[in-house]
Amino acid sequence: MASVLEIQDLHVSYRSREGAAFPALAGVSFGLMPSEIMGVLGESGSGKSTLAAALLRLLPGNGNITRGAVHFEGRDLLQAKPEELRQIRGRRISLIFQEPSLALHPTMRAGEQVRQVLAAHGSQGKSALNERTHQVFAEIFREEADRISRSYPHQLSGGQRQRVLIAQAIACGPSIVIADEPTASLDPATQMELSECFESSGKGWGSR
Ligand SMILES: Nc1ncnc2c1ncn2[C@@H]1O[C@H](COP(=O)(O)OP(=O)(O)O)[C@@H](O)[C@H]1O
Ligand SMILES: [Mg+2]
Repeated sequence: MASVLEIQDLHVSYRSREGAAFPALAGVSFGLMPSEIMGVLGESGSGKSTLAAALLRLLPGNGNITRGAVHFEGRDLLQAKPEELRQIRGRRISLIFQEPSLALHPTMRAGEQVRQVLAAHGSQGKSALNERTHQVFAEIFREEADRISRSYPHQLSGGQRQRVLIAQAIACGPSIVIADEPTASLDPATQMELSECFESSGKGWGSR
């Protein structure tokens, strides 16, 4: 079976304001098979977030991939054009960030935030959009789905907000979900609840 994601000898460095290059990743290689869950362990500052950003070409302006290759479903992501990358991000590979309050729009209802992800990635028609949004919320929030969907982020707990991000991440049925320490800002009980939510949605790899 072919891997969905293949990373070979990836090197990333950040340039300081003075122009010095700081190596953040040096020779990362791995392959991810379909349905496989992979965890990346490492102390704070070891490069976990850098890896997630690099493979989606989302590094900040001073971050550079200096060597290596990233292939997703056979395509070379380091050579991909901006439009091709836009099609892949969010739809084929989605990313859940560490801090839900920074990733959600504060004045938009949770349901609308998921609908917009679907709309941005080509789902057509009001009823199809509403139906898929409802389906995703039902999968993640069960009997609370409608209430959560109508809520604004400030009306939700940290765990519920993080699960809205999971809803966004799985909405388009991606091949890969990257979760960058998605439970780090939550208390232990909510962390457990969220891990169960991940298991039941059945995909992804975490760096917890
Ligand atoms: N924008 C940046 N500019 C310069 N250095 C950075 C930047 N982002 C991260 N780094 C450095 O790269 C290293 C890896 O950081 P990061 O990927 O955030 O680690 P982790 O996610 O494992 O905590 C750290 O030493 C960090 O200071
Ligand atoms: Mg990090």
